[in-house]
Amino acid sequence: MKFLGCRLYENMVSAENKFRLAVLGSGKGSNFAAIADGCTQGIIPAEIAVVVSDVADAGILDQAQQRGIAGEFIPPGKFRTKLDEEAEARLVTLLTGSKINLVVLAGFMRILKGEFLRAFAGRVINIHPALLPAFPGLEAWKQALDYGVKVTGCTVHFVDQGIDTGPIIAQETVPVLAGDTAEKLHARIQETEHRLYPRVIAALAAGKIAVNGRQTIWLDEPHS
Ligand code: GRF
Repeated sequence: MKFLGCRLYENMVSAENKFRLAVLGSGKGSNFAAIADGCTQGIIPAEIAVVVSDVADAGILDQAQQRGIAGEFIPPGKFRTKLDEEAEARLVTLLTGSKINLVVLAGFMRILKGEFLRAFAGRVINIHPALLPAFPGLEAWKQALDYGVKVTGCTVHFVDQGIDTGPIIAQETVPVLAGDTAEKLHARIQETEHRLYPRVIAALAAGKIAVNGRQTIWLDEPHS
């Protein structure tokens, strides 16, 4: 069994040094807000060192500013779905310089591959608004509604080279109700995201999650 702690904690030099998070997002930042609250309330034993967005006027950057957390806009470059080489290199330099232990994707709409994943191997997580492996990709709540499933939810997973394919850390279910619209369903999924993501990050920061191939193991609590 490989303990993530080896890499996750490599920048920690003493007990006073907190576990450092970078949060990357392109949108309104409600997950960032839940994580930031978790840190200030002591539920997550970590601090958010930096927030990064590929969208200059993203709500997540305003939220970071309101909380006095460093926010950075990185112009994504010429591609629509990924960062160009220069932007990716800038991101790696920023996060390496900020001595980040864990990179938290919270609605970041660019695919991260290659150099970035090599630099932060095993240290990047994402939250997806469906029960993976069902409905990967965009607007997963809408995909679930259109398909007609009765239960959907959210998934926190490690990020690998694929689209929403990395090892699953935790999932929470959400029932699809009669009369749901895409907006109503997404709002209920987001409520669960705001509980689940802080809980997973707290466990990772405390070294309570191990990974063995595709299996992740919660070391001190039963978890479905
Ligand atoms: C969330 O629904 C998350 O699952 C998806 O993007 C959305 C981000 O929302 N990956 P917010 O910006 O955190 O409010």
